[in-house]
Amino acid sequence: MKFEVFTLLPEVFPPYLESSILKRARERGLISVGVHNIREHTHDKHHVADDTPYGGGGGMVMKPEPVFEAVESVLGQNPLQTTGTPVPIILLTPQGRVFTQRVAEELSQHEHIALICGRYEGVDERIRERLVTDEISIGDYVLTGGELPAMILIDAVSRLLPRVLGDPTGAEDDSHSMGLLEYPHYTKPAEFRGWKVPEVLQSGNHARINQWRREQSLLRTLRRRPDMLEKAELSEKDIKFVEGQKAKVKENNISDL
Ligand code: ADE
Repeated sequence: MKFEVFTLLPEVFPPYLESSILKRARERGLISVGVHNIREHTHDKHHVADDTPYGGGGGMVMKPEPVFEAVESVLGQNPLQTTGTPVPIILLTPQGRVFTQRVAEELSQHEHIALICGRYEGVDERIRERLVTDEISIGDYVLTGGELPAMILIDAVSRLLPRVLGDPTGAEDDSHSMGLLEYPHYTKPAEFRGWKVPEVLQSGNHARINQWRREQSLLRTLRRRPDMLEKAELSEKDIKFVEGQKAKVKENNISDL
């Protein structure tokens, strides 16, 4: 999978991309990340990539020419009409559709993705209208630019690709991948400061362990993210368990599960 990042801050990418799992994925040729400096596509003496907004008001706006030129220098003149599947050209912006595990899964199906990191108060609208094919926000808060969001997207998408994670079960059991939060994890020692690992996990009985994990997942999702539970695919057994938990709360008149 190939990512092309267009940014005014190329120096922020290498430290993260050269660490840990993404580093290994790059070395093994599972992903590649091209980081392209938009400023290199300016042609004036001072390499100006932003300008004041038409109509007045505060803040600066990213100019269209260097962004178009940078993207076209990598993807060709007509990125939408290249052979094969069109390369999505994604603008990272708080105005985009919200990035979720489902969006990461969707993007992981592409071979090649371009990411444009917005800076300043915004980008010239013609970039949105005539170049970009998708806009993504990583959440309802405003950052100083799209660089961290781009990195988050690269990270979340990369770990879904085959062989990127060391674990052969990969990302299957992740929180969110099944529409539920993950069950609690424990490792050695079996007792730490008097706090014991649940007995069931040490029982060696895999049917019991799986059932306990499923119930913990349901319980945790019910407590923390009831909105997710409404959309999750639940078996009859799951529903029974959840209803039982809700009834228990009602019965005991306690507000917390
Ligand atoms: N740029 C600034 N804030 C952002 C956000 N929340 N998501 C994506 N890009 C952004």
